Amino acid sequence: MIYQIYPRSWADSDGDGIGDLAGITSRLDHLVDLGVDAVWLSPFYPSPQHDAGYDVADYRNVDPLFGTLDDFDRLVERAHDLELRVIVDIVPNHTSSDHPWFREALDSPPGSLERGRYIFRDGRDGGPPNNWTSRFGGPAWTRVPEPDRTAGQWYLHLFDVSQPDLDWTSPEVHQEFDAILRFWLDRGVDGFRVDVAHGLAKADGLPDTTGDSLPMWDQPEVHDVYRAWRRLVDTYDGERILCAEAWVESGEALAHYIRPDEMHQSFNFNFLMTPWRADLLRATIDDSLRHAAAVGAPQTWVLSNHDVVRHATRLGRADATSVVDTSGIGIGDPQPDAQLGLRRARAATTLMLALPGSAYLYQGEELGLPDATTLPDAVRQDPTWERSGHTDRGRDGCRVPVPWSSEGPSLGFGPGDPWLPQPVVYAELAPDRQRGVAGSTFELYRRLLAVRRERRLGTARIAWVDPTTVGMGEDVLVFDLVGRETRVIANLGAWPVDLPPDSDVLAASDVLEDGRLRPDMAAWLHAAG
Ligand code: GLC
Repeated sequence: MIYQIYPRSWADSDGDGIGDLAGITSRLDHLVDLGVDAVWLSPFYPSPQHDAGYDVADYRNVDPLFGTLDDFDRLVERAHDLELRVIVDIVPNHTSSDHPWFREALDSPPGSLERGRYIFRDGRDGGPPNNWTSRFGGPAWTRVPEPDRTAGQWYLHLFDVSQPDLDWTSPEVHQEFDAILRFWLDRGVDGFRVDVAHGLAKADGLPDTTGDSLPMWDQPEVHDVYRAWRRLVDTYDGERILCAEAWVESGEALAHYIRPDEMHQSFNFNFLMTPWRADLLRATIDDSLRHAAAVGAPQTWVLSNHDVVRHATRLGRADATSVVDTSGIGIGDPQPDAQLGLRRARAATTLMLALPGSAYLYQGEELGLPDATTLPDAVRQDPTWERSGHTDRGRDGCRVPVPWSSEGPSLGFGPGDPWLPQPVVYAELAPDRQRGVAGSTFELYRRLLAVRRERRLGTARIAWVDPTTVGMGEDVLVFDLVGRETRVIANLGAWPVDLPPDSDVLAASDVLEDGRLRPDMAAWLHAAG
């Protein structure tokens, strides 16, 4: 069970409105209480923060915004004392345009070694070298003035203009990242979450994107990088892991990242992207397990992170049963049904936490936090909003600072005003309102994690049960965790489902009425045998 902390928004110790490492250290007890095994920290490195730290200017330090290297060491020490592993984010696809390498590249002529660390090319017919677009909207190329001030070459940035892509055909880039990995491994980190893992290699000659061909993603050469990284992390003691953030087309392509000599895990975004429908979820779960098993790796499960609308909000959208839309929601957009969203989110989590493998939780989901869906556009900071020409509101809604108490400035996040305003409802969702309260989302998560651990569900095998053989409809998911005496039932249908009389309910996503599982509820039952 790995819990994602987005350092800007978890706990602010110094009152500048932005979370920091000392804040994290002071709140780690919450995670022990919750019952997770590890934390993954989104970037805290020196950065101009044009993409909230995913634009790294120095890979071997801590941004003063978040503290110091000493603060980092204290965090790791405290986490390890609490038996929590620490995974850090590594951003190898691009640096910040403030990185010394990029500055050197700008000051050096075309064809120089300095330019060769990035992807600089001459333009085509007065325009960019090819037709690629940035993930955040707009062209993926920006033209630079040459040192002699003439209009010059273009550089590639698959994300913001402030995030130039590195050229992974350069041996120097490989050496540099090996050294960066060692730097953090030597400081005691337990692993890395690898940002944009599918982007490092680009197809030879940088051909135009045509139809289905996307020459910038998931090229075979990326795997050579991870094989080398695996060899490197394996030279360290203990278990150090690599996890890929790879948004690739198929479960099969994703499994390539977790072959025995590559990474240990990759995020299963197919699960996150599956609409709230029994047949589709079952198919995704089966597919996911099959592809992971084929390479002998554990599967992972995830429903929320800092890049998508939180599942408590996403699942409250009118179309949650047919499509999954992860674009941000803002003032003037249709507003999701918060109650329905939370209900389904709790059911979805109850389903997810029964599945074998590893699960990634995103800060605040254990409180049932919704996205901030009415943020004023003026406070938005995600570059997506500007770069998309104000068509995609971006990811600020899921990045709002978390509440720690139902009262006080910034709801206990810190002594100052939070960098994004918190929705009013965050007050009633703060941990002090939920801890020890039967039926709260926090207690549900704690219970699920405790039972999961006790019954070793993470290493079980699942066996589907045809719902019609146990008196339930087709839109109910039923499976057993073989050898673990546990049956999971998730009702995605429109009618309540009767649980067998005298069911021993281990956990339920909501209150059962007369032994019935209402629509959008899930439960774990003790099942003898
Ligand atoms: C990953 C991160 C995202 C970031 C992007 C560019 O997708 O999760 O937050 O914007 O990479 O680094």
